[in-house]
Amino acid sequence: MLTQIDKAHDLARRFGGERDGEFAPAGVPISRIAEEYGTPFYLYHGEMIVERVRRVRESLGQGVEVLYSVKANPSLAVCQLIAGERLTGAEVASSGELVVVRAAGFAPEDIVFAGPAKTDDELRRAVDEGIFAVNVESLNEIDRLAAVAEQRGRRIGVGLRINPAAQLMGSLMRMGGTVGQFGIDQADLGEAVRRTLAHPDHLILRGIHIYTATQVFDVDPLLEHCSNIFEIALKTADLAGRPLEMIDFGGGFGVPYFEKMGEFDLERFGEGFQQLLASYRSDPRLEGCRFFFELGRYLVAHAGVYVTRVVDVKQMKGKAFVTTDGGMNHHLMATGNMGQVFRKSYPLLNLSCMGREPGEAVTVAGPCCTPLDMFGANIPLAEPKPGDLIGVFYSGAYGYSASNLGFLSHPTPAEVLLWQGKAHLLRSPGKPQDVLNGQEALALTRG
Ligand SMILES: Cc1ncc(COP(=O)(O)O)c(C=O)c1O
Repeated sequence: MLTQIDKAHDLARRFGGERDGEFAPAGVPISRIAEEYGTPFYLYHGEMIVERVRRVRESLGQGVEVLYSVKANPSLAVCQLIAGERLTGAEVASSGELVVVRAAGFAPEDIVFAGPAKTDDELRRAVDEGIFAVNVESLNEIDRLAAVAEQRGRRIGVGLRINPAAQLMGSLMRMGGTVGQFGIDQADLGEAVRRTLAHPDHLILRGIHIYTATQVFDVDPLLEHCSNIFEIALKTADLAGRPLEMIDFGGGFGVPYFEKMGEFDLERFGEGFQQLLASYRSDPRLEGCRFFFELGRYLVAHAGVYVTRVVDVKQMKGKAFVTTDGGMNHHLMATGNMGQVFRKSYPLLNLSCMGREPGEAVTVAGPCCTPLDMFGANIPLAEPKPGDLIGVFYSGAYGYSASNLGFLSHPTPAEVLLWQGKAHLLRSPGKPQDVLNGQEALALTRG
């Protein structure tokens, strides 16, 4: 199993390696990008995203569609790259995500909308756009969606997001098979089908959606879970008395961010899934059915690096501390403040001196005034000096948009895309005066 430092070097090599001792993704020296856009910034590698989408599609087999879970990285250009690939679609969770995927070129018939608290306004947008399915998460939501569709004089597709009775074992974080706010209890499947079919002029029952876990690495339990999803789908078709048009299997394929984590075995999962699909595909209850996997981090996490500059290096009672100009304010996940129980560090590298052996282990901390702002302790970085650039790998997912960008009012980071050997600015870096944006100074009277 690779150490964190080996993983970082491996990812750096996949980005395009180094030149004259510095990280040079796709041949572009990182210091040049830093000079042009300032630090910190997020850098995404377009070809790595496209290559991953193709690999996933090939592994899952003919006709299986890959939906991009936009919450992982809602950058317009990232969505455009995926929308330009065959047999892809998008899974959105808000009106904003719906806006971005339409702007990126995803067709309405390739979009599904999930989320446990969709407002009437969001349902209205989904209906007006004519997306393929609103994946409803409660019995009430079925009735609300029908009412909205009636108001708009339209019909809209419905996916029933089911919380299955059986747990998916072997994952790190579960959102189904447990008691929680997501989906409709499997025990209520019959009622959900009945309610959907009660509105034939406004609702079209497309099928089912089951997403129960993220960071899944164990192939066999995941295949068992998919087999269970097929069975629930067939039961749904029986209850409806007609074939289903959609099974959305969720996904949750894992990304090995941390020490002792190996890659998700996509090829083995794909082989198993193809066999499973072959055994169900000819069932008349699935005639014409579309098969979806919805993936976020697995498509984009590996293709992003967050780059921050060393501001200071100091010793405190025999320990070395390196402070950087970006931290938890830009990257909540990589500082262990989201999705982790115990803080573990992402793969980090000193991008300014790639060839040098790591020296003394250091603590890497961001600029926010809290001990929570830390990329990690005991990191074997190569001799960090003020001005060096530190790379935080696996930062393509749940980075910019998943962070508390307003905390401490530092400027927001730029987002840059490498595509066809060139760096393209996707989002300009913020400025200190942005803190006043949208605020009104009051003419306060006192006394
Ligand atoms: C319904 C749904 N689909 C897809 C995803 C994407 O998960 P991941 O990024 O682990 O692929 C999530 C993540 O929370 C989700 O809630």
